Amino acid sequence: MTTLRDQHPSLDTLRNALRTTPLDALFAADPDRFSRLTFRWDGWLVDLSKERLTTDVIAALVREADRAGLPAWITALFAGERVNQSEGRPALHMALRQQDDAPVLVDGQDVIPAVRAAQTRMFALADALREGRRLGATGLPIRDVVHIGIGGSDLGPRMVCDALAGTDAPPVRVAFVSNVDPEALARAIAPLDPASTAFVVVSKTFTTQETLANATAARAWLARSLPAERLGPHFVGVSANVDAAGAFGIAADDVLPMWDWVGGRYSLWSAVGLPIAIRCGPDAFDALLAGAAEMDAHVRTAPLAGNAAVLLALVGWWNARWLGHPQRLVIPYSHALRELAAFLQQLVLESNGKSVARDGSPLPDGSSPSLWGEPGTDAQHSFFQWLHQGTRPSPVEFVVPVRAIHPVGDQQRLLVANALAQAQALAAGRAPAAIRRELTGSGLEGAALDAAIAARVCPGNRPSTTILLPEVSPRHLGALIALYEHRTYVEGLLFGVNSFDQWGVELGKTLAKPIVSALVEGTALPADVDASTRALVAHACTLLGRGS
Ligand code: F6P
Repeated sequence: MTTLRDQHPSLDTLRNALRTTPLDALFAADPDRFSRLTFRWDGWLVDLSKERLTTDVIAALVREADRAGLPAWITALFAGERVNQSEGRPALHMALRQQDDAPVLVDGQDVIPAVRAAQTRMFALADALREGRRLGATGLPIRDVVHIGIGGSDLGPRMVCDALAGTDAPPVRVAFVSNVDPEALARAIAPLDPASTAFVVVSKTFTTQETLANATAARAWLARSLPAERLGPHFVGVSANVDAAGAFGIAADDVLPMWDWVGGRYSLWSAVGLPIAIRCGPDAFDALLAGAAEMDAHVRTAPLAGNAAVLLALVGWWNARWLGHPQRLVIPYSHALRELAAFLQQLVLESNGKSVARDGSPLPDGSSPSLWGEPGTDAQHSFFQWLHQGTRPSPVEFVVPVRAIHPVGDQQRLLVANALAQAQALAAGRAPAAIRRELTGSGLEGAALDAAIAARVCPGNRPSTTILLPEVSPRHLGALIALYEHRTYVEGLLFGVNSFDQWGVELGKTLAKPIVSALVEGTALPADVDASTRALVAHACTLLGRGS
């Protein structure tokens, strides 16, 4: 019996057909390919036509997504259902950027009043700092803020502050310290005056070893030159564990809340983004939230086939699951977005780097490819050689803000042109015949000519997506981040994983404890520690001047 499902070619069939059809043939076969495989939204243009797929593939992927219940999962996310099943939590970061006061219920309670109260406190604190009204122990206004946090409590605000920093001298300088490496804190505080420096300690759990070690060291640094009992104004906390922040010594009035219903890597919209409000101002923060809310509305309401987050996720899934690419590159053609890849590494890989489905069963078809990237044009002079001629082609996402924030001559046009040319080069490649023609008259012949041609050939047919957005304004940046957040959730659904937990990170934290004791106090390692780790600890102890 033929079912409706059987009337459409399967994704396997479509993939097999495409094996022998390069991108240039796909463009030649369909004069409307570009318009059929592009998506426009609020001045944005997302071009999927250089991906190794067809409109039939997109249609089949959408059908597959429908069958997997994607619309219901998207509704569940926005409705505050417990989509983070392993921790029994909703993932309601969208509530933090909601523009109206429509109730958002968690356990029957509207969270919006608490969100608004936290925003009011955050903006008041940011204003007090920016206007020089927050005074340190000696009466000097705070002029430098050091944000201490790691992972989701660092990467989002760090990226946004850098993206929106601009060129003006800020009323308050903001630095970030995340690594427990003492060099990070040492370098950050070296140029600072303790009397006019405050630390924002950000940790959802307030148990993260790196953050607590840095915060403790920061307090010791302040206490070396300021009266210990007057350090209060030099600390602000952001945490869901207000008691622990209090136990560390931060006054309750100076601890801004986070909530369990916001995942760490989705938290920059909360008071975790305090440095953004301090560095760039509350208006910029508001515009960031508004841009993200616009993207939320689009993702919540658009049908699958016209939904930017869904389309990008489907293409990502196609490249990973069906074409077998184990990696994905994100190349922002934007100095302001130079931290984007670092941010996405956590967002995507901590969310979707899993081996089992929501019910604990193994994933038959794998999960997220790895993700990395660097800004163009620098990346062109680094690893793009590998992209163009290496033996392991990798899909690329070009993220290209078209208008400059600070135009200088024609440089922005140069930048954008390079991005477009790279996507073109990856798709088109460079064929031997054209190279042979170019080398005519070069004096090369025979085997030498053949070798010269072979070295210059670029195979092409290498997939990429290009996202053109108007500029890196707070509003468009908010939308871009929200787009990647939703895409990550949808891609996680397609892979079958829970995108909101991160159990794998715990093992290393647990195993570090006895090693820390061995390095700090010289205690013996547990009997089950392997020979390699044992020998490495012994060698480190020797170098640190401690017998093991
Ligand atoms: O890296 C693991 C992790 O748990 C992240 O998910 C989180 O963003 C980070 O550590 C920091 O956690 P916290 O905000 O609790 O200090």
